[in-house]
Amino acid sequence: MNAMAWNVAPLAYMVSGQHRFDDARFTVLAARTAVLATMALEGFTPDTAAARSLTSPKVWQQLDDFSRRMQALETTSAALAKAAQRGDQAQMRVLFGDTVKLCKACHDEYQRHP
Ligand code: HEC
Repeated sequence: MNAMAWNVAPLAYMVSGQHRFDDARFTVLAARTAVLATMALEGFTPDTAAARSLTSPKVWQQLDDFSRRMQALETTSAALAKAAQRGDQAQMRVLFGDTVKLCKACHDEYQRHP
């Protein structure tokens, strides 16, 4: 999940105007985020439940909901990557907002805060 943040953080700077908007860089980072999203769910298997982590035990009780959220992230980040390829900045901003909302909503629900 850290790898996700390395890619998403610079996108946030660009969208918020803290960094110059760089279409080419945005496209690369958005594409990476979309690929990572397809892998993220594989890291959450019940055999890791006992591991010390920040994953809430609710993940295992509500795995369907958790998986749906991860799939939503996959779909939305893929759409973001496509918009970036087209160079559609308006859509890039909207879809980036949608993407980070999905990150936050899932963390609020399923990340433990030690
Ligand atoms: C479907 C749920 C879900 C979605 C969507 C999600 N995450 Fe997470 N994320 C988690 C959970 C659960 C953890 C806690 C994992 C752990 O460390 O045990 C986590 C942890 C993290 C961490 C902390 C890693 C660490 O080891 O401390 C980062 C950074 C992170 N996520 C970034 C993101 C970003 C960026 C996105 C959106 C692009 C995102 N996540 C989307 C569930 C999600």
